[in-house]
Amino acid sequence: MMRTNTCGELGVKDLKKEAVLCGWVQSRRDHGGLIFIDLRDRYGLTQITFDPKFKDAFSAAEKLRREDVLKVTGIVIKRKEGMENPKLATGKIEVDVREIDVLNKAEMPPLEIEDRIEATEELRLKYRYLDLRRPIMQHRLLTRHKVAAAVREYLNSQSFLEIETPMLVKTTPGGARVFKVPSRVHPGKFYSLPESPQLYKQLLMVAGCDRYYQMARCLRDEDLRVDRQPEFTQIDFEMSFVDAIDVQNIVEGVVKSAFKKGAGIDIKIPFPRITFHDAMEKYGSDKPDLRFGLELKDVTHEAKRSEFSVFKHAEMVKCLCVEGGWKFSRKELEELETFVKIYKAKGLAYMKVENGKLETSIAKYFLPDLQKEIIKKTGAKDNDVLLFVADKPEIVYAALGALRLELGKKLKLFEPADLKFCWVVDFPLYEMVEGKWEARHHIFTMPNEEDVKYLETDPGKVRGKLYDIVLNGVELGGGSIRIHKKDIQKRTLAVIGLSYEEAEKRFDFLLTAFQYGAPPHGGLALGLDRLVALICGINDIREVIAFPKNKSAENPMDGSPQEWGENMLKELKIKVEKAKVHKDGQEK
Ligand code: AMO
Ligand code: AMP
Repeated sequence: MMRTNTCGELGVKDLKKEAVLCGWVQSRRDHGGLIFIDLRDRYGLTQITFDPKFKDAFSAAEKLRREDVLKVTGIVIKRKEGMENPKLATGKIEVDVREIDVLNKAEMPPLEIEDRIEATEELRLKYRYLDLRRPIMQHRLLTRHKVAAAVREYLNSQSFLEIETPMLVKTTPGGARVFKVPSRVHPGKFYSLPESPQLYKQLLMVAGCDRYYQMARCLRDEDLRVDRQPEFTQIDFEMSFVDAIDVQNIVEGVVKSAFKKGAGIDIKIPFPRITFHDAMEKYGSDKPDLRFGLELKDVTHEAKRSEFSVFKHAEMVKCLCVEGGWKFSRKELEELETFVKIYKAKGLAYMKVENGKLETSIAKYFLPDLQKEIIKKTGAKDNDVLLFVADKPEIVYAALGALRLELGKKLKLFEPADLKFCWVVDFPLYEMVEGKWEARHHIFTMPNEEDVKYLETDPGKVRGKLYDIVLNGVELGGGSIRIHKKDIQKRTLAVIGLSYEEAEKRFDFLLTAFQYGAPPHGGLALGLDRLVALICGINDIREVIAFPKNKSAENPMDGSPQEWGENMLKELKIKVEKAKVHKDGQEK
């Protein structure tokens, strides 16, 4: 080993000891003949000092610049009174350097290696190896490592086997668009990169593995957001001979242990459960942020009896009752109206509560008794304001759900550091897309027993054994109990207009495997990136991924995606014809 200690560990217990440290120059200060340097490595900072007495070391230190790489040998001494730094673990001591070896000189770094100073995202990603030198980024990588280790330890203790599944696969039936990889050996044929190991983990259940997990790399050719990357990692698992509750118990154990070992945070399990239906009705979202109330109140019945034509004829009318909302200025209310219009709402009607009555221009359309009923139903008090959206349910949910979150932030209705978990259960199995039924999750999801009878008559009513785990309004993970029998599979496929034979052509290997004795099984996948980000108290998953892509799915450091030259294309027998693209992104 080149060193006796790291830059984060020397203290008063080491006084008078000779120590060898290696690291990077964080900063250099000349003080009345003495030179002070903060030497940094992954573990911390140690102040090292150079005295002109030790001529060679001193003259080398005079030439040092930020980020030069050093090895120094010196004696651990106590810092002078008043010079201690209580913020540093090594803040009571310094190393009086006798010998120095400059292991490497560094060019001036294009960004500051400082937690407080943040460069632009483009610069951070272009020089990610420098950005990652910042202590905060080192801390996030360490947390990610601890979380992954805790998850493995927990699942290992529950008899799960860690098994890798292939990266070059046949297209799997998830919702996401897949990346395609041309085959050189089979010109004109393509592999897909897995959007998740879904089918393979189910096959492992048929294979009798009983309990499988994997830190699975997943690839999805999706539009990016702060909580979405084209490559990300799932804590993916599957279990045999279980029902939804057994899968959920395991997830709670995983999450509890991840928070405890990743950040020393104790969380309480089990998490509360809320049905999809109630989540939409109360929060306008299937991933509700439960750190605050401000629930949506339904006034469809009351609105029908008003004389306000927008409300009278609407399919659904809901409102938010904002405590003390009479303080909103007209301008603020207009801004809120502009906000809900992003979600296709046609407007945002409002009424203020004054002396037990509703005020504003539209109040006249509501008779006094009706006003009282609305006040009672919404629990409104004097000085509150009611904000209404009338529309189709999807638009009411989306607009008021988003407005609820916006007001939660604007009015500081929650403590950002709070952790509010929940399970969202009983999702509908199907959704109507452009007049056709489609599977909401994937076509192998088991319907709830009591709803099977509606498969042929009223598919919209069929709920599935689907469950999502949600933390502070973020979907951390999702899973389901799968269909393992042919009769029910046939019926669920028929709803989306697919015969079993057609499905067999697409997913032949899975459906064939199911003929040889498939056990009842189910599982879930947690987004590791999202989990670690939330444990670190942030939303942007790029902050916890070593080498993420930017908003345009590029990596400014390695320059991917790259153009391929003729030779590479020739090898694959591929010819590229560039489509002319309009400014709006549409092909000509
Ligand atoms: P699903 O598609 O819901 O389920 O994904 C599970 C979890 O993975 C995370 N996630 C993402 N994280 C970052 N970037 C992305 N682009 C991204 N997409 C998804 C989320 C999400 O909750 N095979 C099923 C699981 C199962 O049924 O067992 C699946 O992939 O946290
Ligand atoms: P108007 O009659 O169009 O002037 O609208 C009167 C009020 O109702 C305005 O404050 C609008 O923002 C609001 N409004 C119009 N359409 C809707 C709607 N679908 N839902 C809620 N408020 C609406």
